[in-house]
Amino acid sequence: MRGSASSLTTPPPTAPPSGPVPRHIAIIMDGNGRWARGKGLERLNGHERGAEAVRDCVKGCRELGVEYLTLYAFSTENWKRPRAEVAGLMKLLERFLAKEVPELNTQGVRLEAIGRVEELPESTRKALDRAKAATAANDKLTLVLALSYSSRVEIVEAVQALAREVQAGKLDPAAIDAESVSRHLYTRAYPDPDLLIRTSGEMRLSNFLLWQLSYTEFYITQTLWPDFRKDDLFEAVRAYGQRNRRFGAL
Ligand code: FPP
Repeated sequence: MRGSASSLTTPPPTAPPSGPVPRHIAIIMDGNGRWARGKGLERLNGHERGAEAVRDCVKGCRELGVEYLTLYAFSTENWKRPRAEVAGLMKLLERFLAKEVPELNTQGVRLEAIGRVEELPESTRKALDRAKAATAANDKLTLVLALSYSSRVEIVEAVQALAREVQAGKLDPAAIDAESVSRHLYTRAYPDPDLLIRTSGEMRLSNFLLWQLSYTEFYITQTLWPDFRKDDLFEAVRAYGQRNRRFGAL
């Protein structure tokens, strides 16, 4: 029997890629504002639709067996946006955190955060703490939200911590190496990302995981974040599977 009109226009779901799967995917979710403008909507509508993309990508990561997904949800620079947009983003985050916990638990997803979360409004911090506590025992996928995050600030804080250890006579400066720096970053518990995805076609890192992305494969797509779905994630992972990772060797 022929399908309905909608099943004729909806493309069939893409199968998960069969090649190598990144252990850790990091995403710069960009283009929410442009998506909204293109539809004559408010920027916040773009962010709301972006939250649906987050939901779908978490599902996609679970299907693939990805262990860590780090999302650039709010940078320190984003505080400079109009007050109404910042407040709207914080409320959206709170709603997402409250609503998504049952689904995260069903899927075995542990929620964590990196960045200066102490700078978030109290209600957002509480929502975050509740979601972290409620999902802490899950061990299939770690979803890391970068919030009030700046990679330069993260590196500066690591340098300050190392300097304090030197000053206290606990650390020989000559013993400081890449591992000891990594151990002082917010991301110390996670492996470095294998794949970085940036949506909306921009070719920059925007102060995201500058240290951790040293050997990461980049995948840039023109798709705006609110339109990004599981199939786009699979496409990125398929492209990743075709890369020849040499880590500087031959
Ligand atoms: C960049 O698009 C996006 C952000 C600054 C915010 C990202 C937030 C979300 C996707 C909301 C939901 C997140 C979670 C974790 C529930 P932009 O506004 O800079 O877009 P533009 O460059 O087109 O203006």
